[in-house]
Amino acid sequence: YLHQEEVVAQECEELIFSLPKENGWLASYLYKYQGFWHPVRHLQGIITCQRHFDARDSDVFLITTPKSGTTWLKAILFTLMNRMQYPIAEDHLVLNKNPHDLVPFLEHRLYVDNQIPDLSSMNTTRLFATHIPFFSLPKSVQDSGCKVVYLCRNPKDTFVSLWQFTNKLRPQGVGTNSLGETFDKFCTGVSIAGPFWDHVLDYWKESKEKPRKVLFLKYEDMKEHANVNLRRIAEFLGRPFSNEEEESGMVEGILKLCSFDTLSNLKINSTGKLSSGEENKAFFRQGKVGDWKNHLPIEMAQKLDQITEQKFSGSGLVL
Ligand code: A3P
Repeated sequence: YLHQEEVVAQECEELIFSLPKENGWLASYLYKYQGFWHPVRHLQGIITCQRHFDARDSDVFLITTPKSGTTWLKAILFTLMNRMQYPIAEDHLVLNKNPHDLVPFLEHRLYVDNQIPDLSSMNTTRLFATHIPFFSLPKSVQDSGCKVVYLCRNPKDTFVSLWQFTNKLRPQGVGTNSLGETFDKFCTGVSIAGPFWDHVLDYWKESKEKPRKVLFLKYEDMKEHANVNLRRIAEFLGRPFSNEEEESGMVEGILKLCSFDTLSNLKINSTGKLSSGEENKAFFRQGKVGDWKNHLPIEMAQKLDQITEQKFSGSGLVL
């Protein structure tokens, strides 16, 4: 197993290197911090945000489990929240930039590599994304009046998507991860921001306790009832569609602009790269519900179902 050099800032060194670690999905370890597994770079970002990020009541956070449709919902939220400033048109920003460049991740963009960005000059409503588990969020996110839109996806498609994605991102020369090897890691919770089930459950519980603070969404439901959900999101964020907007077809317009077909076929998303190095096209694969059937043997699917049933039992959550 080839490991890339793990560069850790001095102030985090003692903490990070004292944590339990396991071989990860890319060429780096995953470290267990506050009950969840993170690659070192993300973990450093999480710790820096915990120390320095100050949430405002007006902030909006898109929080997701990796591979649950973050890119899609980034595009939707960005378009929805900026619809006055950037009306839907042929030169819309979503058509010219990858959604990850429009809505930054806290821990792997803004606070990465020990950076402490100055976010105080952002005077419009701030929109951030993160995969940080609920209990590891910077305290001000939990304590302030900010809003959280949470998105997850059924574990079988999430796992297949993550397996395919990480194999694309593995450095040259280290080979790919087998299905079996990554499956065992996913089931035992050793995956990026895993255990998957704990991540989802913590936000599910919070959404039940504080429905005005956390809106809980599922990828499958977004796919099936996209316009109902888009209206729900708009209302939750205190920006419902007006009658005029409804009549002008804005709901359908936003969904079309942010659809898999539109985004995946853009030049920027088929050729460009993020500043963090990932190719934009890695974020668009199939965009379908149920693709796990083409990859997972039945025993693996059953095992994931069993874990899900067991972990979610009594919670009222079904994925
Ligand atoms: P698949 O690998 O199953 O195709 P994330 O954005 O959280 O990394 O999740 C990536 C998953 O969302 C991928 O799933 C990707 O194809 C899918 N996706 C990306 N853009 C989408 C869109 N506009 N609509 C629906 N799904 C999308």
